[in-house]
Amino acid sequence: MEQGTLAAVEYTVQDRVAWITVNRPKKLNALNRETVEAITAAATRAVEDPEVAVLVLTGAGEKAFVAGADIAEMAAMDAREGQAFGRFLVDSFDVLERSPKPVIAAVNGFALGGGCELAMACHIRIAADNARFGQPEVSLGLIPGAGGTQRLQRLVGRGKAMELILTGDMIPAAEAHRIGLVNQVVPAAELRTRVAAVAEGIGSKSPVALARAIEAVMTGGDLGLDDAMRIESSLFGLCFATGDMKEGTAAFLEKRKPEFPGT
Ligand code: CAA
Repeated sequence: MEQGTLAAVEYTVQDRVAWITVNRPKKLNALNRETVEAITAAATRAVEDPEVAVLVLTGAGEKAFVAGADIAEMAAMDAREGQAFGRFLVDSFDVLERSPKPVIAAVNGFALGGGCELAMACHIRIAADNARFGQPEVSLGLIPGAGGTQRLQRLVGRGKAMELILTGDMIPAAEAHRIGLVNQVVPAAELRTRVAAVAEGIGSKSPVALARAIEAVMTGGDLGLDDAMRIESSLFGLCFATGDMKEGTAAFLEKRKPEFPGT
């Protein structure tokens, strides 16, 4: 197991899974600039580490995944600084969404505002049954500024996204699951083991195929269907030139487990 701390983030690698833990539990893991920079640095480290197959993002403590952007830090900002901070959050979260390695959010408590937005920038969300989700920014005279107005409607549909954003209401994990905001809800005490099992399952697949699949879904998702299908066909075609595809198809035909070279 490899361990390290990047400022407000704990970084641990176990069984080819990099666990990135936001570590400001006394402030419910609220995102100040330093914490966001540490998340990005940890994610970049995991993407570059050949020993890592999957990234998991979670929060320290029992109460919160991330309770939003740091309100104390934002309170003193003017419009120009606010816009720059929003852009900084969007660019930072894009590093997760565009990661060629799958990123799972293990949502262990409050995922509010920037915390809900951080979870939505991950490829898969698995929530503890006591987690709560919401975009409460309008209560602060703000709007979601880290992708929430866009990613939420893409995940749950415009009507439900509008309701969550305009009411600022929190919803429990079960409701987040019902509307498609999270993929799975698991008992809080089992969150880590259940996420590890999903991560290890994904980590056993072809790394090249995982990266191409993420690229196809993310790039195609924002295009018209014709253009998106063209991208899918190109990426599908590129898989045929890979060692992973040769090994995966050979292993199937030889009735054995594949050993992907990752090339
Ligand atoms: N920013 C800064 N500090 C925060 C915080 C945040 N987003 N959320 C919680 N904290 C701090 C509290 O100020 C408190 O600090 P002190 O002990 O020093 O006073 C500590 O964390 C514990 O919080 P509470 O005492 O409030 O805990 P609670 O159990 O009573 O309430 C809660 C929990 C309902 C989550 C409440 O903390 C809360 O409403 N937090 C703010 C949620 C929010 O509005 N998030 C959106 C932020 S705006 C945003 O994210 C913009 C964007 O889109 C990028």
